Amino acid sequence: MNSTRIIMVTSCKGGVGKSTVSANLAIKLALDGWRTLLIDCDFGVRSLDLIMGLEDRIIFDITDIILHGIAPEKAIIQDSRSENLYFCAAPYDYETDLDHEEFRNAIRSIGDQMNFDYIIIDTPGDTGSPLRLAAAASDEALVVSTYQPASIRAAERTGILLEESGVKTRKLIINCFHADGKEFEGQPGLLEVIDKTSIQLLGIIPFDSRLSDRQAQGEDVFTIPSCNAAEAFTNIAIRLTGRTVPLFTGFKKIKRAELIKKIQ
Ligand SMILES: Nc1ncnc2c1ncn2[C@@H]1O[C@H](COP(=O)(O)OP(=O)(O)OP(=O)(O)O)[C@@H](O)[C@H]1O
Ligand SMILES: [Mg+2]
Repeated sequence: MNSTRIIMVTSCKGGVGKSTVSANLAIKLALDGWRTLLIDCDFGVRSLDLIMGLEDRIIFDITDIILHGIAPEKAIIQDSRSENLYFCAAPYDYETDLDHEEFRNAIRSIGDQMNFDYIIIDTPGDTGSPLRLAAAASDEALVVSTYQPASIRAAERTGILLEESGVKTRKLIINCFHADGKEFEGQPGLLEVIDKTSIQLLGIIPFDSRLSDRQAQGEDVFTIPSCNAAEAFTNIAIRLTGRTVPLFTGFKKIKRAELIKKIQ
């Protein structure tokens, strides 16, 4: 029986933070002791290898395993952050349409053979075939949305698409939350975002202006000092593993009551 949890991180909208969430969540799960494989399913426009700082080590990609018989151990590389963290890149060029069942079976068999606890799959920001492939392979999905109305609408649409694709467990991650409330005026409140997407909330990640630069250097949020976003990832990883942790633990600088006032 397959015991690997296969989780896609998704939204059919670009730039909402899917790769950021995939990378940092996978890193956190691995640092917490779970054997974790991060797969880039953003075929054609891969960037997760850059975010992970692994671009110089990529020789093979996930389609080499499935289409060209390359051994998983060759295409899956270990990350130096943790002995539990592994990465598999997306192809640069992708023209073939992979068969959904073949893809699903390949991902499951990698999970079994290499004893992964978690496989996290990053997806592109559109409704094209890689998103559907990832959905075919995944049991669970984390839908990422910011506060932008277009992003919320995309999250809702993604939720419907996932339901149609048979991904039974779907959870929402709200990204780029402005804990100081500065960017809050005129934006829908947290509760409204949850209502509009009709997806149960798993976590909220604050905006951190230092994140982009760090990411460009292949560094993760856990290297940023006093970073609320890092705490948010810690909480999300804990919640994902089935333990309860208050939603707002990571928001040190604002009082919970003030936040609740803002979201109502
Ligand atoms: N919480 C955050 N705080 C600050 N910046 C963030 C946050 N989350 C993501 N970003 C920045 O937003 C940009 C887009 O993030 P990312 O690449 O993860 O999005 P994506 O949804 O994967 O995009 P694409 O659809 O193009 O693959 C990046 O520059 C990233 O550093
Ligand atoms: Mg991305």
